[in-house]
Amino acid sequence: MKVTIVGAGNVGATCADAIAYRRIASEIVLLDIREGFAEGKALDIMQTQTTLGFNTKVSGSTNDYSKTAGSDVVVITSGIPRKPGMTREELIGINAGIVKSVAESLLQHSPNAIVVVVSNPMDTMTYLTLKATGLPKNRVIGMGGALDSSRFKTYLSQALDKPANDIHGMVIGGHGDTTMIPLTRLAAYNGVPVSEFLSAEKLDKVAADTMVGGATLTALLGTSAWYAPGASVAYLVDSILNDQKKMIPCSVFLEGEYGQSDICIGVPCIIGKNGIEKIVDIDLNADEKAKFAKSADAVRAMNADLKSVLA
Ligand code: NAI
Ligand code: 2OP
Repeated sequence: MKVTIVGAGNVGATCADAIAYRRIASEIVLLDIREGFAEGKALDIMQTQTTLGFNTKVSGSTNDYSKTAGSDVVVITSGIPRKPGMTREELIGINAGIVKSVAESLLQHSPNAIVVVVSNPMDTMTYLTLKATGLPKNRVIGMGGALDSSRFKTYLSQALDKPANDIHGMVIGGHGDTTMIPLTRLAAYNGVPVSEFLSAEKLDKVAADTMVGGATLTALLGTSAWYAPGASVAYLVDSILNDQKKMIPCSVFLEGEYGQSDICIGVPCIIGKNGIEKIVDIDLNADEKAKFAKSADAVRAMNADLKSVLA
């Protein structure tokens, strides 16, 4: 099984490392435009093989897409961060140009690949990838909900003082501070609703911390996070390549599910060898429905900035 990761920066390289160490794929290609950068990251990861004990072949490439040929899964993490003075529209314009050309180059060499989109604003970049490539919707998956859910479960485990592996919970909606929806009503500690153990105030605090989870790390680190994002991509890729059929919230094209159409936004999906195998349309309560509709409005407003790229 071969995986290509475009963008050998913080998230791309961490994701390659996690996929190699966990033996999720037999071959990984890291690609970047920075001369020698992907080659350097790949060589560094390869030199952990003997001490960590894995055989995955990891190689790097400076913009040579022929090396990515025949990939089963391609992951797009390339893009630039928002700089001071830059408008959201300018950022979307630049990253959209990068994501579109990267997706097209990848598919020339791996026409059957499943595409995982990570670059921000992720829901909008996923929508762009779907529209620009014309791929069927099961093959374009935005990663954000896996990460937001891992942050949600971590904050829940800390509030409960119980092991994170015993906690289940999902975050749906857009991958943004104000658009994501931690589903506290459905979160559980070993099958028991967390509301049995935590007050409404404590649950509200967990939800609020989750929503600013990315921003909290950016403030601490001076740039956005990479360990949990990289691990979340690896988790998603594992479910695809090993046909695990895990239920993972992913940004996916909706056609009526959750009352929405012509949008990519986070909803629970069954992830297997065909990518999105099924969208799980759960019954939301009135409050969750209202939040989801508001989140979709915000994502749609961002998608409007894609007009020139998709024209
Ligand atoms: P980074 O700056 O460390 O890495 C980005 C890499 O992309 C750089 O090495 C750069 O040279 C490369 N790149 C830029 N244009 C390229 C092109 N045309 N072709 C190939 N490579 C190109 O950034 P980091 O921290 O790895 O984040 C990457 C993206 O992922 C950002 O857009 C970030 O906002 C997003 N992100 C998304 C998350 C999610 O949950 N969806 C979580 C964390 C980050
Ligand atoms: C994160 O959630 C910024 O999307 C990035 O860490």
